[in-house]
Amino acid sequence: MMSKTALVTGASSGIGLELAKLFAAAGHPLILTARSGDKLESLRKELVETHSVHVEVIVADLAEADAATKLADELASRKLVVDILVNNAGFGELGRFHEIDVERQVNMVRLNVLTLVHLTRLLVPEMIKRKSGGILNVGSTAAFQPGPNMAVYYATKAFVLSFSEALHEELLERDISVTCLCPGPTETGFGADSGMGDSAIFKSNAMGVEAVAQAGFEGLKNNRAIVIPGLKNRFGAFMTRLVPRFVTRKLVKRLQVPNES
Ligand SMILES: NC(=O)c1ccc[n+]([C@@H]2O[C@H](COP(=O)([O-])OP(=O)(O)OC[C@H]3O[C@@H](n4cnc5c(N)ncnc54)[C@H](OP(=O)(O)O)[C@@H]3O)[C@@H](O)[C@H]2O)c1
Repeated sequence: MMSKTALVTGASSGIGLELAKLFAAAGHPLILTARSGDKLESLRKELVETHSVHVEVIVADLAEADAATKLADELASRKLVVDILVNNAGFGELGRFHEIDVERQVNMVRLNVLTLVHLTRLLVPEMIKRKSGGILNVGSTAAFQPGPNMAVYYATKAFVLSFSEALHEELLERDISVTCLCPGPTETGFGADSGMGDSAIFKSNAMGVEAVAQAGFEGLKNNRAIVIPGLKNRFGAFMTRLVPRFVTRKLVKRLQVPNES
């Protein structure tokens, strides 16, 4: 995979930023995208200086309805070819379904689901023609069960996991790797942004972001369908197969309490 170009969405912070560093360290040219142009630009400088790789920055709001088309057009106008697509950008929100800002929920579905599918659909045909490529989708351990008090987020991640597993099988004979990285709580800006960061369950289980990114990077290299970093997280995901769903969802409801404002 030495000189293959990787496009990383949500590369301005957290897991996406760490993944970008790993791809750069392995010699991959990069295309970084997110809304925060200043952060992307300073990461670009750092990666060019440290790893001497070519890095392009595309500032974009991927929650916009036509975000994937716009991004693909920008790639085409810069004559950039994407060999590895890292669909990482995403966010969540703790709270009761009927109380969370509706615009935020719609944007969440657009970013976590719609843009991820649309961008993949626009870029995969070229990978198929070249008979090589890779897709790393960032799901979550939230994908393995319904999430009362975070209903939309859990559902978006269940979609990402199902979609990724199906594509993994479809694209096996095309020599295109598809991996779904399913982190549990991870020390990034996600905790504070989603309102989950202060909960005991999040704090006591949070993993370091480097280890999570490394697991995803290795998983894609070895074309593993699902990567769940951390023993506790793997155990939790496994238990959802043994425990009846009505029990699991009630447990999540008890553990995941909305912040009262
Ligand atoms: N941290 C966790 O506990 C955890 C656990 C499981 C799964 N995940 C998943 O991991 C992925 C990365 O999150 P993280 O933990 O690294 O959180 P983070 O540090 O908050 O990073 C989120 C990234 O997504 C980008 N992003 C957010 N909204 C965007 C938009 N509208 N358009 C374009 N980019 C946007 C952000 O960049 P800008 O703000 O610059 O746009 C940022 O680069 C997400 O899909 C998340 O669901 C996280």
